[in-house]
Amino acid sequence: MEVKKIITLPGDGIGPEVVAQGVALLKAFGGPLEMRFEFEEHPAGGACLKQYNEPIREETLEACRQADAVLLGAVGAPEFDNNPAHLRPEKGLLKLRAALGVYCNLRPARLYNTLADASPLKKEIVSGIDLMVVRELTGGIYFGEPAGFLEKNGLRTSLNTMVYDENEIRRIARKAFELAAKRRGHLTSVDKANVLTVSQLWRKVVDEVAEEYPNVTLSHMLVDNCAMQLVRNPRQFDVILTGNLFGDILSDEASVLTGSIGMLPSASLGDGTPLYEPVHGSAPDIAGQNKANPVAMLASLAMMFQYSFDRPEAAAAIEAAIEEMLEAGFHTADLNLPDGHCLGTKEMGEKITGTAVKRLQESFATV
Ligand code: IPM
Ligand code: MG
Repeated sequence: MEVKKIITLPGDGIGPEVVAQGVALLKAFGGPLEMRFEFEEHPAGGACLKQYNEPIREETLEACRQADAVLLGAVGAPEFDNNPAHLRPEKGLLKLRAALGVYCNLRPARLYNTLADASPLKKEIVSGIDLMVVRELTGGIYFGEPAGFLEKNGLRTSLNTMVYDENEIRRIARKAFELAAKRRGHLTSVDKANVLTVSQLWRKVVDEVAEEYPNVTLSHMLVDNCAMQLVRNPRQFDVILTGNLFGDILSDEASVLTGSIGMLPSASLGDGTPLYEPVHGSAPDIAGQNKANPVAMLASLAMMFQYSFDRPEAAAAIEAAIEEMLEAGFHTADLNLPDGHCLGTKEMGEKITGTAVKRLQESFATV
């Protein structure tokens, strides 16, 4: 029996509610997959600050390094908004990404057919969107030194540093090319090379890597133009490769095209333990009310089965179940579907999990 050790980090806001649905799905999948999932829960973000006055503990990072995968809900709580940087919930997530070395963040955005009307854009523009943002996750301006506050000419001043070396660019570029080669063969590298020297190096290295992948067509796009193209003609994109800050912004933009940020999963991969988390945040306004959309979390598990556990049949079963439930009209409150049945987090999670288990069992029966 294959055993997988999963560290769960429910975190803040709606995090615990969606992680609970993720754990329930894994438990239900264990039998049919002949796998056993062992769970160990640790506090992270605001939840950890409250208990231990730090946003993540070293023993948690160590447990994550030793595990087969980490499942994170969300971090962030308004009560810590005025804390210094090292005592903010977000710092816990950044430390975790750095500790695991998960430099490659995959954020797919795909429109489920039934949700074309839920998108804020016209149906003609969004139908058929299927793109993947590949965001560099452990470098760039998020981590560059020097960073901080200082006094300059008697003025309160602050700085951050955007820095990438060629190795950091090359390894994320390779991941993006490999993905594009398996998809529709088109890669758009997004930067700000008309202004930033970091982006000029980025472009040069991406061009060099392109020579290793003759079957992928590469184009470069400036980030401001990309922000515009995403709402003007999002179907032109297959894989978008970009740095940490631009990827943060563009992936939120891409997500809302698909109807709701509550739908979008993510995988963060490197050389060690992978991290899976929904793209959405902690949504404190709806926390604890059984309103959150569990789809992003469950779809993140589909990515886990695909990218880390080599069980594509499990990934397909989850994706099919999500699609079927949406087609049957079930949704959560973030999706304002006129003729649907609006369910709570738990009920929606249970529907998807129940259907996913059936689809999984059927897939075994047909082979
Ligand atoms: C994300 C979030 C994080 C980020 C925050 C919570 C640190 O916005 O995962 O996109 O900026 O990377
Ligand atoms: Mg973000």
